[in-house]
Amino acid sequence: MKTRITELLGIQHPIVQGGMHYVGLAELASAVSNAGGLGILTGLTQRTPKDLANEIARCRTMTDKPFGVNLTFLPSLNTPDYPGYVKAIIEGGVTVVETAGNNPQQVLPPLKEAGIKVVHKCTSVRHALKAQSIGCDAVSVDGFECGGHPGEDDIPNMILLPRAADELEIPFIASGGMADARSLVASLAMGAEGINMATRFIATKEAPVHDKVKQAILAASERDTRLIMRPLRNTERVLTNAAVERLLEKERKLGADIKFEDILDEVAGVYPRVMQEGDLDAGAWSCGMVAGLVYDIPSVKELIDRIMAQAETIIRKRLEGFLAA
Ligand SMILES: Cc1cc2nc3c(=O)[nH]c(=O)nc-3n(C[C@H](O)[C@H](O)[C@H](O)COP(=O)(O)O)c2cc1C
Repeated sequence: MKTRITELLGIQHPIVQGGMHYVGLAELASAVSNAGGLGILTGLTQRTPKDLANEIARCRTMTDKPFGVNLTFLPSLNTPDYPGYVKAIIEGGVTVVETAGNNPQQVLPPLKEAGIKVVHKCTSVRHALKAQSIGCDAVSVDGFECGGHPGEDDIPNMILLPRAADELEIPFIASGGMADARSLVASLAMGAEGINMATRFIATKEAPVHDKVKQAILAASERDTRLIMRPLRNTERVLTNAAVERLLEKERKLGADIKFEDILDEVAGVYPRVMQEGDLDAGAWSCGMVAGLVYDIPSVKELIDRIMAQAETIIRKRLEGFLAA
């Protein structure tokens, strides 16, 4: 399949793996790229720019296809060394960067100068338009369904994607709630040129996370995510567990007075414990509503091949069939 996104990113299939803290390591990114999609390493999972340089080099030994790096700008106590990470990306010969969390202006000049394509992930049309105006090559439009940070507007993809199509000139990728060929074909119908999947890719053979995490996603239904940190205007969609329910109880009790320090126990240092040790109740970890559409743990190649084959069937048989009838 050829779209403006496959052309822009130099990939075979219009399927991107979104950045995921402690999941987006070389094993997963290379598997996605080898299967014809775009795999993405999560920059800030690497503690230092030097670690990111090593991870890029490791990924390069596992695939000769293009892969990207995610750079996330979120409120944090210690600001990461973004110029250092950008240097590692450029020197590592990476061709695509997925930015997220905030306006990526600070990293655009060096990335653009190095010829790197920048895909900014955002949750609203106005932020997508801003990204277009400052020179991003494409955007990933993340609907309210998404795992991680859906923003504060709560617009689901059924509205957000056609709205993006009505406003944007640069190509965009549909993100949030994407699981299968139906997601891909529907997104293309609504104006997107590809899909970005995160939660779905955790439940694959190659995802370098504890098996308990994969099983938890398999077992979860579409009703099992919760929105946390809304009072802090840093909303995150996570899989429910004891820690998440405790956190929500604190939010109810403390109301508008709640501070980040009040929920540190539930959100700080959680990812390595969950993803590596399989301690699922260690705290809050991102997960999309799409967990309800995850029924198996295939290899990345099986998943991507299945999506592409079934997308063709939906388009040629189901959709064309309606016209022929
Ligand atoms: C476990 C997990 C960790 C994530 N970490 C990040 C991150 O570090 N940076 C980022 O930009 N997005 C992150 N995301 C968001 C995804 O990249 C993606 O935008 C979103 O999950 C898409 O929705 P989906 O999960 O329904 O596919 C994370 C998502 C998950 C599920």
